[in-house]
Amino acid sequence: MQSFWNERYAQEAYVYGESPNEWLRECMNGLHAGKILFPAEGEGRNAVYAAQCGWEVEAFDYSESGKIKADLLARKNGVQIHYKVADANEVHYPDGSLDAIAFIFTHFPSTLRRQLFPDWIKWLKPEGSIIFECFSVSQLDYQKDHQSGGPKDAHLLYSLDTIRDE
Ligand SMILES: C[S@@+](CC[C@H](N)C(=O)[O-])C[C@H]1O[C@@H](n2cnc3c(N)ncnc32)[C@H](O)[C@@H]1O
Repeated sequence: MQSFWNERYAQEAYVYGESPNEWLRECMNGLHAGKILFPAEGEGRNAVYAAQCGWEVEAFDYSESGKIKADLLARKNGVQIHYKVADANEVHYPDGSLDAIAFIFTHFPSTLRRQLFPDWIKWLKPEGSIIFECFSVSQLDYQKDHQSGGPKDAHLLYSLDTIRDE
């Protein structure tokens, strides 16, 4: 999958555009700027937006070509982001160090999520926020009759119950 994303991001154009995810933009309007983490941040559109809003930004993704484009986008917009090339199971941030974690189309396998998320939640400050937009398992049915994106594998998708449990 890592090579899939590296190839996908190898083109000059930004696959998901240079503008942030709309839900992220809406949620961030209501929050005071602090330190935010973007797991699986791809080409950097969300991280760069957060930095423009005054947030200190941490991000990671296992795609090297995603990081190259994210750094370019940050430079183009005159902001700084701290973006690591790493697999989700390699990253670590200090407990209580983050004001927010933004999961924007972060589709890890459910087994990996169950392993990682209990630790990740500890990286948040007690009053920290989780911003979340990912595809639901009901997307599998929806895709039968509609042109729409998202993973085709149920283990990569979410329900409200799996989000609460994980
Ligand atoms: C649908 S893209 C979303 C990119 C970005 N969050 C956005 O909204 O533009 C999914 C991203 O997850 C990353 N990814 C998937 N599995 C990963 C893993 N195990 N560790 C790190 N990154 C991963 C991919 O490289 C890809 O950039």
